[in-house]
Amino acid sequence: MDRREFLGWVGVGCLASSLPVAIASCSPQNQTNTSTNSAEFQVVGTLTQLKAEGQLLDKKSSVGRILVIPDPANPDTLLAVNPTCTHEGCTVKWQAEKSKFICPCHEAEFSPKGEALKSPAKEPLTTYMVKVEGDSILAKST
Ligand code: FES
Repeated sequence: MDRREFLGWVGVGCLASSLPVAIASCSPQNQTNTSTNSAEFQVVGTLTQLKAEGQLLDKKSSVGRILVIPDPANPDTLLAVNPTCTHEGCTVKWQAEKSKFICPCHEAEFSPKGEALKSPAKEPLTTYMVKVEGDSILAKST
C-alpha cells in the first residue's frame, strides 16, 4: 500500500467513524433546546419571589431574559417583558412609583406593557405571555 492509498483509507475510516455521531447529533431526540425563546410556557419564578421583591427579574430563564411585574392597572394580573432596552441593550429597571420601565443608560422610558414612551428608544420592549399556576409564574414568547 502506498502513501496515497493509506491516506485514502484513513480518510474513509474517519468519515465512517464520525458518521454515527453526525447522524445522532441531527436527530430530534438528541437535540436540546438551546433557543432562548420557547414556544411553550416555562416556569420563570414564583409568586412568593414576586411579592417579596415587587418584581421578578431573571436574566437566564428558559424563555430568555424576563422581568415580571404586577400590572399597575390590575394588580391581580401580571405583565412580563424582556428588560433589554431597544436602544442599545442596557437592562431597564421597573419603577413602580412611576409605573414605567426606565433605562439607566440613556433614560428611555417604557410603559408597563413595554411600549416606548420616551426616546432615545423607539421600539417597544419584547413582551411575554404570562400565567400563574399555584405559586409558579410561567411565561412564553408571544
Ligand atoms: S440603552 Fe436604553 S436608553 Fe440607551
